[in-house]
Amino acid sequence: MNSSTTEKIKIQKADKSRIDQVDFENLVFGNVFSDHMFECDYKDGSWQTPTIRPYGSITLSPAAKVFHYGQAVFEGMKAFKDEDGKVWLFRPDQNAKRINKSSVRLAIPEFPEEIFFEALTTLVKMDRDWVKSGEGNSLYIRPFVFATQAGVGASPSTEYKFMILMSPVRAYYAGDIQVEIAEHYSRSANGGVGAAKAAGNYAAQFFPTNLAREKGFQQIIWTDASNHEYLEEAGTMNVFFRVNDTLLTAPISDRILDGVTRKSVIALAKRDNIAVEERRVLVSEIVEASKNGSLKEIFGAGTAAVISPINAFSFQNTTHNLEKQDDSYAVKFKKELTDIQRNRCEDPFNWRF
Ligand code: COI
Repeated sequence: MNSSTTEKIKIQKADKSRIDQVDFENLVFGNVFSDHMFECDYKDGSWQTPTIRPYGSITLSPAAKVFHYGQAVFEGMKAFKDEDGKVWLFRPDQNAKRINKSSVRLAIPEFPEEIFFEALTTLVKMDRDWVKSGEGNSLYIRPFVFATQAGVGASPSTEYKFMILMSPVRAYYAGDIQVEIAEHYSRSANGGVGAAKAAGNYAAQFFPTNLAREKGFQQIIWTDASNHEYLEEAGTMNVFFRVNDTLLTAPISDRILDGVTRKSVIALAKRDNIAVEERRVLVSEIVEASKNGSLKEIFGAGTAAVISPINAFSFQNTTHNLEKQDDSYAVKFKKELTDIQRNRCEDPFNWRF
């Protein structure tokens, strides 16, 4: 292993890359990790020396607070390689800000943005061969921070670990998906942690999502916790409804994640003169629109999911199928978004980094 430092980061390089052992044609989302990872510990009231080292195991006390109280938040972002071999990140400033916003909600100390950027750019440069060009290929980047102090007292940890892993991926969903609208379980409530990318938000969805999967649905569209009247977001993505030619999506609140792909779709729609309404969307309104034919499309938007068309939804045990649209907004936004991400067009919004 050879060692060096950037201005701030201590670096230990892997002796040998593992890249030759990877079957890039048959990747399962998030199962393979690149050669290096970033790690920085928090103790005695400050973040310690940031380090990049070969991807590998870490050692934690079984009493680490993350295991007992789930004090952990994460981010999802992607790097893309263009046809000239240049590597691009998409709106990384948004993730740097959001992980700190999530941290504040979980009583975790914020991580310095300049170290986050230096870590990201250094790591991506070191493992640039892991970013494959070509449609559908990207390097999924997973920053996360969790409580490491040993102790089962139910109070915020005094020690944390901030890490970044990178995983070469292809599509999260293989094709169009079917969803169930939540009628019993809830993802988040007013004043809760729904707007934070808290690890526990995802764990809490596994059981109801398994029940939905048994019925043939890949995801649940969550509804408000009070009366299950309003549509909010799906487990791994925000959701858009196209009624006639207008796009509807739930407004950001303390129950809904402020998705980077969500806000990018809204910006693209506004640029393209497509009407977008960020407002509470009633389940009954979408069921009625499906019945009268004005519901043209539903699609999810997220970093992992990109733009994922939803071709059927189920509510009160009735499945509503959606017909394919020749002028699909999902197809249009996916192309516009991925063209910007992959440096295939101008970047009028300055989203590429
Ligand atoms: C992402 O899109 O980055 C997410 O966080 C979804 C993830 C749970 C797979």
